[in-house]
Amino acid sequence: MQLLQALREATGPLHRRLDDAVSAQPIETLSGYARFLSMHAEILPAVEDWLLRSRDFATLPEFRDRLRTDALRRDLSALKLPMPKMRDMSFLNDESSVVGICYVLEGSRLGAAYLCSLLGKSDATLPTAFLRHGSGRSHWKTFLAWLTEQDRSGLATGQAVFSARQVFDSYLKALLEQDNNRKRVFGTS
Ligand code: HEM
Repeated sequence: MQLLQALREATGPLHRRLDDAVSAQPIETLSGYARFLSMHAEILPAVEDWLLRSRDFATLPEFRDRLRTDALRRDLSALKLPMPKMRDMSFLNDESSVVGICYVLEGSRLGAAYLCSLLGKSDATLPTAFLRHGSGRSHWKTFLAWLTEQDRSGLATGQAVFSARQVFDSYLKALLEQDNNRKRVFGTS
């Protein structure tokens, strides 16, 4: 499928960088897990808020059920962690592509399922509402079916790829800045 292929090719290297960056600190530890949740919390609420204001997002099956901000808040609150300050997400605008943005968010559930399985194999007792969100549902499958119905023109594909990359970039920057701040305060990452 052209659109999916274009998104995969364009974001594969960014995904690998993000995967490596997240994995640099074990997810099974409180600090590694807090770092992971805080990274999402800098981005996801603003992106979901923007999606909810977009007409295209409402065409994605069960779009409301896909929102994970509340689950993220619950996990942070269970760990007594504050919601971090939101990043500047002003790149989200009329030209942004719901397709590209949803690809990143829906794909991140696949990684979440894997991370959840790592936690399950460890002794960690960490709240997993966010990681487990949507498990047992067919969100990825229905997203892919929806993707086949989307505009595949060169322009739309270009916008989707551009937006997907921007979201990945935001995640990478959020993680990097968190690590730098921690280094400044504690002298360690
Ligand atoms: C340590 C962190 C992560 C790990 C270990 C991880 C791992 C994975 C795995 C195992 C898959 C499924 C691959 C497959 O079944 O073919 C996947 C897919 C994906 N992940 Fe991640 N992931 C991580 C973080 C993230 C994050 C934070 C995002 C985005 C914010 C993300 C976005 C995606 C996307 C878009 C896909 C779909 C790829 C595709 O099939 O087209 N991942 N990830």
